Amino acid sequence: MPIIAPSLLAADFGNLQAEVEAIARAGADWLHLDIMDGHFVPNLTFGPDMVAALRPHSHLMFDVHLMLSRPEAFIKPFARAGADYISVHAEACTHLHRTLQQIREAGCRPAVALNPATPLTVLDHILGEVEMILLMTVNPGFGGQEFIPAMLPKIASLAARLRESKLDILLAVDGGITPETAPAVCQAGARVLVAGSAVFGSSDREKAIRDLRQAGAVNRIQV
Ligand code: DX5
Ligand code: ZN
Repeated sequence: MPIIAPSLLAADFGNLQAEVEAIARAGADWLHLDIMDGHFVPNLTFGPDMVAALRPHSHLMFDVHLMLSRPEAFIKPFARAGADYISVHAEACTHLHRTLQQIREAGCRPAVALNPATPLTVLDHILGEVEMILLMTVNPGFGGQEFIPAMLPKIASLAARLRESKLDILLAVDGGITPETAPAVCQAGARVLVAGSAVFGSSDREKAIRDLRQAGAVNRIQV
């Protein structure tokens, strides 16, 4: 069964406490929080104070995705705010190895995110430092974009590499994940499905989460 991580980016920003509570009742496994700085990506969202304000209203795993040019400057604030996983973009980190260690030192689970155009070779020397790899299946910055099919062989190739490495690292995908695209990404080896519009945009979120989970599970059995 894939882990379902609805992205708060597609929630009603005027009603965030209720949205966070509702998504847990609807059966979400994690909550994915997209942090954008208007520089690394062409959009702005919210910061650590917002994450801290939501933390008391949810027991879900907080999966914080930092789309920031200088993520190292914000690790401690997000750790204090209650992040569980913190993902930093490899493209934004001059000292990726050090930044991942700082995430662990701050008491969080380190993760690396890769843009669609970034090759898997950037992971060559840091696999021992991460608990999750987040492969972007759209160019980051906005919800509701279309899944990029050319990411399927990338997912499969990373999954094969992780199996060989025997390290316990989760493979997550983010962007354009729907019940239509979930079977192929899970067959390729994704274990965490981040989905914004497919979940928060649905009138029946419980069904949306169930549909995603089933779409991912069916194909894993067929593998
Ligand atoms: C995109 C964000 C995603 C986004 C996904 O930059 O990182 O997490 O919320 O949205 P959907 O599922 O609508 O593509
Ligand atoms: Zn994200």
